[in-house]
Amino acid sequence: MNRATGISHVTLIEYLSLERIVKRLSVLTVPADALTWHRFFGALLLSLLVLLFLSGAFMAFYYSPALGSAYDSVDYALFSLPFGGIIKGVHHYGWNLFLIVLGAHLVRAFVVSAYKPPRQMIWVSGVMILLFVPLFIITGDLLTWDQKGFWSTQVRLSIIGSIPFIGDLLVRLFQGGPLTGIVALTRFYVLHILFLPGLLAFLILIHFHFIKNNGLSYSFSSDNYSTKTVRFFPVIFNRWLILFMGITLVLGLISWYWPAPLGDPADPTDSSYVPRPEWWVLFLNQLVTIFTGSFSVVGSVIIPGGLAGLLIVLPFIDSSPERHPVRRKRVMLCAAIIAIAILALSIMGYLEHFSTPHV
Ligand code: HEM
Repeated sequence: MNRATGISHVTLIEYLSLERIVKRLSVLTVPADALTWHRFFGALLLSLLVLLFLSGAFMAFYYSPALGSAYDSVDYALFSLPFGGIIKGVHHYGWNLFLIVLGAHLVRAFVVSAYKPPRQMIWVSGVMILLFVPLFIITGDLLTWDQKGFWSTQVRLSIIGSIPFIGDLLVRLFQGGPLTGIVALTRFYVLHILFLPGLLAFLILIHFHFIKNNGLSYSFSSDNYSTKTVRFFPVIFNRWLILFMGITLVLGLISWYWPAPLGDPADPTDSSYVPRPEWWVLFLNQLVTIFTGSFSVVGSVIIPGGLAGLLIVLPFIDSSPERHPVRRKRVMLCAAIIAIAILALSIMGYLEHFSTPHV
């Protein structure tokens, strides 16, 4: 205590002490509405993220980011290391599920109008996360150094390279040269395990900062926001812990029964290998095949860029106070048309790439 001012100063060590953190958490409250079932997706995203970080960290103990040993180190971890297959499987199925839950979280926020004032920045920060996440998959796919990872990377790099003005520069930055070799593998690895997780954590902090500042959206059933609150610790924390353990168990069991796939080692001379696109990218892939030649930029940049731009500006072009989906016919119709187009393109892509046996 400073006698002159009467203000007590707490040292950094005291401030960070576990006892204080628990004390501060135990008085932290959140609106009772946070327990609504359709907010489940936000909590599930957090659980999956922690699981992805943990399984990735464990895999890093055995992974060797060098051309001659990357594939063998993955093969060893997958088939010879006790529980190695389960950890790799949890990472593999975890990011697939993460994408599905991310989509569900976005659709839910759209349907209940959670993007409308004053929550525009919660939405915008969410869209930033959504646009950022594919970078994890692009960088992660190459790390196994198998045929699928190597040739999928070539397809993605050629799409990135077709971006006017900056395409070539981006490809060189990613690869560190004209070919996908040791420098590319090192860059993808460092991005995947260091820079991208750091940036994602920062984006999520921003997302939560806006959620805290602007509050959660009201439920339709009441005009006034319920003032009821629940304690974050233990009420929310315990539920989140149960969710985390549940999803770990489910993904662990799935990985045990269906081990994560690993193809043949990458052969950069075998250009006859045609990689099948991932399910989440089927519609983008189809757009690229529809617009060819001088129109290729329409499928690779203009339409995807336009969709991303539309998502970002949505809260600013649709800011009316009406929140119920039934009374927002125009915006719901536009969203349905876009969703049907994405679904139709994905089905076309599926039929094209998956209806025949892969060679
Ligand atoms: C790593 C990804 C993300 C995580 C961990 C995350 C987490 C959360 C959590 C825990 C909440 C509060 C509970 C809830 O309403 O679900 C929330 C709210 C929200 N999120 Fe996300 N989110 C992510 C990505 C996104 C994306 C991609 C969008 C949309 C583009 C988005 C938009 C929103 C909105 C608008 C709210 C406020 C909901 C309301 O007030 O009813 N989030 N997020």
